[in-house]
Amino acid sequence: MPVTRVPIRELLAAEAPRREIEVAGWVRTRRDSREFSFLEINDGSCLTSLQAVVAFDTEGYAQIKDASTGSAVLLQGELIASPAKGQRFELKASRLTIVGTCPEEYPLQKKRHSDEFLRTIGHLRSRTNKYGAMFRIRSRLSFAVHQFFQSKGFHYIHTPIITGADCEGAGDMFRVTTLQGASGARALGERDFADDFFGQEAHLTVSGQLAVETYCLALSKVYTFGPTFRSENSNTSRHAAEFWMIEPEIAFANLHDDMQLAEDFVRYLLEFVRTDCREDLALFAQFVDPEITARIDGVLNSEFARVQYGEAIDILNSAKQSFEFALAWGSDLQSEHERYLVEQHFHRPVFVYDWPRDIKAFYMRQNDDQKTVAAMDLLVPKIGELIGGSQREERHDRLHTRIEELGFKPTDYWWYLDTRRFGSAPHAGFGLGFERLLMFATGVSNIRDVIPFPRTPKNLDF
Ligand code: 4AD
Ligand code: MG
Repeated sequence: MPVTRVPIRELLAAEAPRREIEVAGWVRTRRDSREFSFLEINDGSCLTSLQAVVAFDTEGYAQIKDASTGSAVLLQGELIASPAKGQRFELKASRLTIVGTCPEEYPLQKKRHSDEFLRTIGHLRSRTNKYGAMFRIRSRLSFAVHQFFQSKGFHYIHTPIITGADCEGAGDMFRVTTLQGASGARALGERDFADDFFGQEAHLTVSGQLAVETYCLALSKVYTFGPTFRSENSNTSRHAAEFWMIEPEIAFANLHDDMQLAEDFVRYLLEFVRTDCREDLALFAQFVDPEITARIDGVLNSEFARVQYGEAIDILNSAKQSFEFALAWGSDLQSEHERYLVEQHFHRPVFVYDWPRDIKAFYMRQNDDQKTVAAMDLLVPKIGELIGGSQREERHDRLHTRIEELGFKPTDYWWYLDTRRFGSAPHAGFGLGFERLLMFATGVSNIRDVIPFPRTPKNLDF
């Protein structure tokens, strides 16, 4: 019988002992007794490591000292019922091969390290239980995002990463240029851009929305899921300069349809993580945030609240608690306000909608009151804003006027405006920050620890 390589996840879930198998992975620990060595092997297929017993007469045993913490090994043998507590099976090795040795300087010798330290070894932290679990969850949730939309008939649109448009109009954009030296460094005039790669100013996208809207007005239900880039200089635990955003867009729909879609989506993802990622999630419940299971259950068992911005301001102004930032109608909500609304007042996720026009983006649909737009933010416990969305201004004249009022050039948005001339229809969408979702789902409190290689101000390691 040929020897087959089996992922540890599959072995641990086996129904019965198996013969002639091979396991490949990294040694987490080794304990030596006089006649045996016990190796804990992890191959990343799941959180739990497989215990392997290597006896002194096993082929390759002479190299056992090289099977040190962190080394890469190959083991052949049979899966047998384990006499040890807490595991059904173990591997009785018939052959040990050292694939890659690992000297003592390996920084992951002890079991627990601080997140801060692990960020300094971003190329190795994936080998810890916690980061292995995190990035398996991230992978599974990415899959769940597609599963949710695909099962509802949405089409996945790849929107461009390099763009000539500024979606949010906030100006927090990274420039893309091939101009070298002095001309690239100084503030560039129009003539210089003519010499640049695209012959005009180019940036990394802050959102796929404007592009995906054009496809929404053809395919009705679409979404994009890709990296977005913002150069806002906010060095917080919830902002990254490169993050992933999921942006669905639905045609013939209004703000209330949009909020319903957002609620269904968030519920689906939490339900998914609770059932699909049980083992990895348990690690976060044990070591990171003991409240996480209760918080997820709480969200799943309650309907999300919906409150107009004006009412939210009233609630905050009559709160017994005092806030660092004073509030009046027209001010943006700070994190302390968001958290008060969710954690102290509503005790469940809440949509705040109908926001003041002047603090929101140009494309949002203007309400009849002349003051507000059909925008919504979804606030969740611990995180604050998880989602931002809106019904879009589908009326050509209103949109054109708004672009001019804000001092933007309508010619820069000619194609976007065109979609309002040719068969315009009410439509709405939102953006969910994928890292914020991961923080919410695992209880991890810093965005740097939910993305493989975080990009934040003054930090571009790895
Ligand atoms: O509220 P935002 O800015 O909305 C948009 O970009 C819209 N174009 C979306 C749309 O309607 N299609 O961003 C959406 C979400 C936020 O709610 C937040 O979760 C996340 O993206 N986000 C960030 N996540 C990490 N780091 C940052 N710097 C983020 N900025 C926004
Ligand atoms: Mg927002």
